[in-house]
Amino acid sequence: MSQVELTGLELPEIKTEIPGPKSVQSVDRLARGECPAITARRARRKAETGVGQDPIVWARARGANVEDVDGNLYVDLTSAFAVAGIGHTHPKVVEAAQKQLGRVVHAMGDVYPSDAKIEFLDRLVDVMPEGLSQCILGLSGASAIEAALKTAVVHTGKPGVLSFFGGYHGLGYGALSVTAYRSNFREPFLSQLSGHVRHVPYPDQYRPPFGMSLDSSPEDISRSCITYIEQILDGPASGGESIGAIVIEPIQGRGGEVEPPKGFLSELRRVCDERGIVLIFDEIYTGFARTGDMFACEHEGVLPDIMCVGKALGGGVALSAAVGRPEVMASWGTSSGEAVHTSTFLGNPLSCAMASAVLDVLQQEQWVEQVRERGDRLKARLEGLAEEFPSLIGCVRGRGYMLGLDLLADVNTRKPHPAAAIELMDRCRRQGYLVLPSGVHGNILALSPPFMITDEQLQGFFDVLYKEVKRLYSKI
Ligand SMILES: Cc1ncc(COP(=O)(O)O)c(C=O)c1O
Repeated sequence: MSQVELTGLELPEIKTEIPGPKSVQSVDRLARGECPAITARRARRKAETGVGQDPIVWARARGANVEDVDGNLYVDLTSAFAVAGIGHTHPKVVEAAQKQLGRVVHAMGDVYPSDAKIEFLDRLVDVMPEGLSQCILGLSGASAIEAALKTAVVHTGKPGVLSFFGGYHGLGYGALSVTAYRSNFREPFLSQLSGHVRHVPYPDQYRPPFGMSLDSSPEDISRSCITYIEQILDGPASGGESIGAIVIEPIQGRGGEVEPPKGFLSELRRVCDERGIVLIFDEIYTGFARTGDMFACEHEGVLPDIMCVGKALGGGVALSAAVGRPEVMASWGTSSGEAVHTSTFLGNPLSCAMASAVLDVLQQEQWVEQVRERGDRLKARLEGLAEEFPSLIGCVRGRGYMLGLDLLADVNTRKPHPAAAIELMDRCRRQGYLVLPSGVHGNILALSPPFMITDEQLQGFFDVLYKEVKRLYSKI
């Protein structure tokens, strides 16, 4: 493998078949030690989709570039699940980690916290929207969601939760109870999931809920969803009086870059305020400049009672937080010496030092404004592509650097085309560009590039995408 310094701004360089021989060997080795349900290997994916899907095995990553164990260089348009917003191995984050490694790597979270944790909490609260100022730290998105759910129940005394179809909040039992991404994620575990959760339709403007016509207006879609929620909450036989929390992603991420109509989140805020319900925004995907605002909810000026953040926060290490209004967080009461909610690695000093560096970089490099502007430009280009190939690309979803192409098998019914998303992903990867399918139907080609991706890298991707979309289109 080359030992050349990666700047993170290079164009792809593909030297072997994809996946290369070392990747294939490594994945075979992985299969010995890992539960077969975890990493997708060719036999299973091929049976499902017709496309060989052996993974490439990553060896190095920097900025927007990833190098695999065979020395192939890729441009990453996924930010590795929207984690590497400021880029992989950002030098300032690496420097912060190295410094912290020489001081203290592990402290005693809720018993003897580290100075790195205290410093980080100050900074996190500084970037959070006004009013969200008390945190429970976690190690994954799922654990932040679970901390928020616990907070809601201690605050309201009500066990019920309302969440949305297509919502992805993680897979721990608490988080999985509110997740309604795909049934196969839940079915084997249904007997162990909370019976207190109700799922309702998300106001998808492109595939409206409740059998509404495809050309329904955003206002009508929003109104129908809100009316339905109010009927559940207030109906005499619906059991809605037990609902104490509503959990929602301001833009659904894994569910397919689904943006609610303008005004929907404010209406949801009103619904919660009128009934004393705790509103939880899951900004684990959308947070920290991803959508062109520091947090997606700021776009509409709506604030939750608790916001969950994670992914990009740790700069590549596992760190998350549920951040709430002090009145809500106060419901936990004061610690009497033994924290009733904690974990061994809570507020881990290494993660906290790296996260402090991430927050510094986001502000110093002024990514919010840049992502908004660059995202608008990228979206306009993708919309041009959708106009040229209308029966394959139904619409471009999302905003900022959280975008998705909605791929269609039938333009009249907007029938999703998941095989097209897999094929495009596979073909882009072979030419050095990493993208992922998303969406409940798997038909969204999702783009969530690192913010510093260059115009040249985007142009290279666009050329490949154009060629491959054209090729697929000619087969329709
Ligand atoms: C919006 C959202 N919430 C929660 C999660 C779960 O996070 P984790 O996988 O870190 O538990 C994800 C993960 O993709 C997510 O996108």
